[in-house]
Amino acid sequence: MSPTKEIYKCFGCGRSGNAIGFLMEHEKYSYVEALRWLANKYNVTIEETETSPELKQIRQVADSLYIINGFAQKYFSDILFESEEGIDIGLSYLKERGFREEIIKKFQLGYALNKKEAFATEALSAQYNPELLVKTGLVVIRDEKPTDNYRGRVIFPVHNQTGKVLGFGARIIAGNDRAPKYINTPENEIYVKSKILYGSYFARQAIDKAEECLLVEGYTDVISLHQAGIENVVASGGTSLTPDQLRLIKKYTSNLTIIYDGDSAGIKAALRGLDLALEEGLNVKLVLIPDNEDPDSYVNKVGASGFRNFLEANKKDFILFQLEVSLRDAGRDAKKKSEVVNRIAETISRLNKAEDFTRQQDYIRQCSELLKIDETGLNTLVNKFIRERVSKQEYKNAAENASEYQDTETAQIPDEEDDASLLLRKDELNEMNIVRALIEFGTKSWDESRTVADHLFEEFETNGLNELFDNKNLLKIIDTFKTWYEAGLDPGPKNFLYHEDHSMSSLAISLMESPYELSVNWKEHYDGPMPGREELYREEVLSTMSYLKLRKIKRLIDENQRDMEKIHTVDEQMTLIQTHQHLKQLEIEITRQMGTVIFK
Ligand code: CTP
Ligand code: MN
Repeated sequence: MSPTKEIYKCFGCGRSGNAIGFLMEHEKYSYVEALRWLANKYNVTIEETETSPELKQIRQVADSLYIINGFAQKYFSDILFESEEGIDIGLSYLKERGFREEIIKKFQLGYALNKKEAFATEALSAQYNPELLVKTGLVVIRDEKPTDNYRGRVIFPVHNQTGKVLGFGARIIAGNDRAPKYINTPENEIYVKSKILYGSYFARQAIDKAEECLLVEGYTDVISLHQAGIENVVASGGTSLTPDQLRLIKKYTSNLTIIYDGDSAGIKAALRGLDLALEEGLNVKLVLIPDNEDPDSYVNKVGASGFRNFLEANKKDFILFQLEVSLRDAGRDAKKKSEVVNRIAETISRLNKAEDFTRQQDYIRQCSELLKIDETGLNTLVNKFIRERVSKQEYKNAAENASEYQDTETAQIPDEEDDASLLLRKDELNEMNIVRALIEFGTKSWDESRTVADHLFEEFETNGLNELFDNKNLLKIIDTFKTWYEAGLDPGPKNFLYHEDHSMSSLAISLMESPYELSVNWKEHYDGPMPGREELYREEVLSTMSYLKLRKIKRLIDENQRDMEKIHTVDEQMTLIQTHQHLKQLEIEITRQMGTVIFK
């Protein structure tokens, strides 16, 4: 396959993406990063249009900080390998800890001399701006004089996703109790702690390959694991995971494994943010390193394969782990235990949104075992939570539609969830409704020669089945339907509801339970007795399909628009504008089609 072809297939017309898209997908570059990379490779200057003077100012400062950090990184590395003090103290410390030279070079470690102003003097004589030097945290003003902030310390550069140095962690060597163990770069235009994952630059491809991201606490953990050939690892820097860091991880993979040591203070904090991780659709596992070791010391002790085996054998699912902990807390208190059951059911019901039905079923099974309660009971409870949310949402949708078309006052609905997540559920329902229509009406006639199923499969074919559905579990039902249908077997609802595969039947049940909503427009524009679903199945198929397509197109328009905000060259701009017009046209066509469906 040519990497520049067929990357982003335009929904609706099959137009393909380009090299930029390829880089974004495979290197996890942002649009601008990808553009810069290409420009750099082909020696093209890219004109950077600035939107405002403020932004320009910030960009300039940021660029300068990168340049100073690059200079400092080389300086500290040179000191480590070439100065007497660097070799005797810094390098021998690192080697004593077991770091080999090649890994020290790969991570660009360095050493800061134990002198008052060694680096400051060097940097100032190289004409770097004193104010900016202070901004990087490399230099502080003491007694009105620029002074080195890191003295007699090992230097760990922190890289961004494209390998540029954002800042540093400087670790003390001598066991001096009064001085802090690490001195870190202060927050500035480029060093934003909450958005940094140490090691992400070196881990990116390994994460892709392993489809898993390991998370540890510290610099030395990341480097030691790398040295052992375990490269899909990043560090949070010892604080709780922030939403930004979670999002970053989610960009790489959905599987996050957190490795922590028992006495680490960080772990409690790290776990706090994890409900958010679940809602983001991250599959979170935990591994506890035993015996007061940390990943760094433990991998040195048991070796690479020993470490790997340990991980595999001791990975604990986050939800189950939480359940174990709260069960232990609840003890024999029945009231507390029922609270635990409710809470876990609620948590599991949220997974629905994470597009993973099979996982939800697995959890229900495992949790009911742990809780020693009936699996069906827990299932019902989870469904209850889902239904409650869905009906709340339906109520809200109906009110929104009504106010949109009747121009009356908006009903006051308790607003517990933000619009984005409500929209997400609406989309989820839409997907479910299409599959439901397939099961219920598949064998009915669509036109003179084709059935509803024939029509839908044609639609899936042209638009790319995998592209269409966010909820991949639905594909399983569609597949089964197709197999039965083509073999001349009955693909009707009953055979799904009583399917021997428990996950299939459960999904079918929740499909059939999903609320069917007759369009508000219908109710308003249709005279006479309201027809039932049976009579309206063609309209149902048309309108649900249209909504699905519209949604995909809107998503593409959004993506394109975000790109436009960042675009730099005229050619790229033209392409994006054309893409925009093209998508808008599609949007208009589908909206028109929907209009005719709804208003007859
Ligand atoms: N950390 C920090 N400031 C400190 C202590 C820790 O910023 N005073 C951060 C660093 O990012 C560090 C991580 O928390 O890497 C984990 O702390 P720790 O385990 O103490 O450090 P290690 O890097 O593992 O160092 P070592 O193995 O040498 O103890
Ligand atoms: Mn350590």
